[in-house]
Amino acid sequence: MLSTEETHEIDLEIKKFPYKQSACLEALAIVQHHRGYVSNEALKAVAQYLEMSETELDGIGTFYNLIYRKPVGENVIRICDSVSCWILGYEKIKAKIKNELGIDLGQTTPDNRFTLLPTQCLGTCDHAPALMIGDDLHRDLDENNVVQILKSYQEKRVVKDTIDG
Ligand code: FES
Repeated sequence: MLSTEETHEIDLEIKKFPYKQSACLEALAIVQHHRGYVSNEALKAVAQYLEMSETELDGIGTFYNLIYRKPVGENVIRICDSVSCWILGYEKIKAKIKNELGIDLGQTTPDNRFTLLPTQCLGTCDHAPALMIGDDLHRDLDENNVVQILKSYQEKRVVKDTIDG
């Protein structure tokens, strides 16, 4: 079942399109924003709200790699594996992340802080290799600065924990 807040936000998106089904991607993104990912139950609720089939909506959701159909960690790392990044050090960066966090592609750290996923070109090939963590783009990566970048996200969480605690 969708929350009042979710339906309100989805309604605002629906108003931008001639057909409510056209807002399906935005609707999935809204649900994901509130819940962290789009569960089967959430997908069903969105499909019913938009009067479309679950299969059709699932096909759209799984096509876009920004829609998560399984639980992900607090920080989703999307590492670019397209050609420029591949040539300029993708494997070394991925290995460094694996070494630092103990996770491979498709995995989440046991503390739920990081999920590592592959992505296609991030549009910054002249600064490859690149990755995104959440909405943040990180470019010109090497084996040293990627470690510092990961640490900065770990520290952010530590600060938040301290404030919350
Ligand atoms: S190939 Fe990685 S940003 Fe384009």
